[in-house]
Amino acid sequence: MAARGHIWAVLAFMLAPLVALAQPVDNTAFGKRIYHDKAICSYCHGWAADGAGEGQSSGGAANLRETPLTRDQLVEVVKCGIPGKAMPHFDEAAYTDRRCHDSTEADLGTNTPPLPPGSVLSRREIEAVVDYLRAKVIGRGPITREECFETLGERARSCNDYPPAR
Ligand code: HEC
Repeated sequence: MAARGHIWAVLAFMLAPLVALAQPVDNTAFGKRIYHDKAICSYCHGWAADGAGEGQSSGGAANLRETPLTRDQLVEVVKCGIPGKAMPHFDEAAYTDRRCHDSTEADLGTNTPPLPPGSVLSRREIEAVVDYLRAKVIGRGPITREECFETLGERARSCNDYPPAR
């Protein structure tokens, strides 16, 4: 009896990592890293996605907190960029085979959206950054001190410039 109990204990020990792997990953945290680090959307759209990007950026980036776009439309914009605008295409092959706006770079010429200043993204990464925006940013209202600390970390002293949530 004691020996059989031992076998179950060993089996449980061996299976534990597999069970952990089967848990859904937190796509929001993954998407947040893409927004702020890998794709540096924040360079143009700002840390709070209100459109206030870095001074060196092209400027005129949309306020994503108030975007009316659906999930599908957001995925499309990130994948394809916006023809004639500074919004880059994050699908590297966007204008090679008519997958975006039924157009190639030859059709769009100088209106072809640029390549991003940071990294291009996979389909999974594009969906993750969109899901991050939908979960944490879109429709959130005015920027608060709490949101700032939540996004930039507890040590971001500039966050004290924002009003606390009511
Ligand atoms: C080089 C600067 C730049 C970068 C980097 C950038 N954007 Fe943009 N983005 C823009 C500009 C400029 C617009 C506004 C275009 C216009 O005038 O409609 C825009 C528009 C958008 C829109 C459309 C919003 C709406 O309501 O119409 C979405 C969504 C968006 N960006 C998401 C992203 C995401 C997500 C990333 C990172 C993966 C990103 N952008 C990176 C410049 C940038």
